[in-house]
Amino acid sequence: MGVENNIAVGSTSAPVPAPQERGGMRLLITGASSGIGRALARAYARDGASLALLGRDAERLEAAARDCLAAGAEEAETYVADVRDRDVMARIIQSAHDKRPIDILIANAGVSTGLSPGQLVETPEAVRAMLAINVAGVFNTVEPAISPMCARGSGRIAIVGSMAGVRALPHSPAYCAAKACVHMWADSLRAQLAAHGVHVALIVPGYVKTPMSARTIVKTPFSARAAAKPSASASVKSWQPGALSDEDAARIIKNGLERRRGVIAFPRYMYWAMRLFAFLPAALVDRVMRQFPAEVPETSERGEK
Ligand SMILES: NC(=O)c1ccc[n+]([C@@H]2O[C@H](COP(=O)([O-])OP(=O)(O)OC[C@H]3O[C@@H](n4cnc5c(N)ncnc54)[C@H](OP(=O)(O)O)[C@@H]3O)[C@@H](O)[C@H]2O)c1
Repeated sequence: MGVENNIAVGSTSAPVPAPQERGGMRLLITGASSGIGRALARAYARDGASLALLGRDAERLEAAARDCLAAGAEEAETYVADVRDRDVMARIIQSAHDKRPIDILIANAGVSTGLSPGQLVETPEAVRAMLAINVAGVFNTVEPAISPMCARGSGRIAIVGSMAGVRALPHSPAYCAAKACVHMWADSLRAQLAAHGVHVALIVPGYVKTPMSARTIVKTPFSARAAAKPSASASVKSWQPGALSDEDAARIIKNGLERRRGVIAFPRYMYWAMRLFAFLPAALVDRVMRQFPAEVPETSERGEK
């Protein structure tokens, strides 16, 4: 692995074939060291894709790259970088694209943060760090790819949002606001870039079983009452309706991208329920949502870079 400034670039690859022999798609995926990003990388690896994988944890990223090669990827480069660093991200996207044009760019890296029971205000430093990753980090990933893709007249950009960006949830105010922001951005880019041959997809996952969702505890009215009893045991099973495995989420996202869907939301019933909630009187929806107390641990991330 070579290190230039604060980007570490590794390459775990089979010998790179001559251009005329290359068949697979070229993808760059952020947040590829874990969860949805890693599962997406594996799904495209099975088609023989050429992968550029980005994350901060070098060890987990290398493990993901090895996994992808074993699954059939033509190559799997690793970029150890923080999406908050705009200059670094611009250089990575440029160099990955120069090596071979990116067909699909997936801005997936993200962190969650929220409120614990009794906490009224999120810690401002945690909120700023989350905004820098979930909003500025997405902009830093996508912006440098727009001109090269438009110049080629082809390419796909997938931006990972969340159901929490469709209708806000009471237990993670800043996270919901960040996701709503990237939803709007993706919708706007899609309309604008289609004329240049570039397709933009907004990904709207519900619960997906990953290290991120494992940290969130959502209670039903029943389990909340049971947990409040003095005899209750400490562990409460989290209620995460429709939770999918990361493999299933990756399969749905990949199918949606192949079909050039503008919005890839799953599970569908949850998406339409959230859309309906956004449409109903706010006070009514707030009352319903308060019946499902949740605990979203504060992120340990700090700093805006
Ligand atoms: N899981 C769900 O239920 C769910 C639901 C809706 C939306 N989402 C969204 O899906 C995306 C992926 O989440 P996940 O559930 O797969 O979470 P995860 O397993 O915790 O993975 C998050 C990934 O993002 C990377 N990352 C975080 N901060 C980064 C930074 N500053 N720079 C570079 N990479 C960074 C992590 O890499 P390092 O650890 O190596 O930094 C990791 O690879 C997120 O945008 C999330 O908001 C998830």
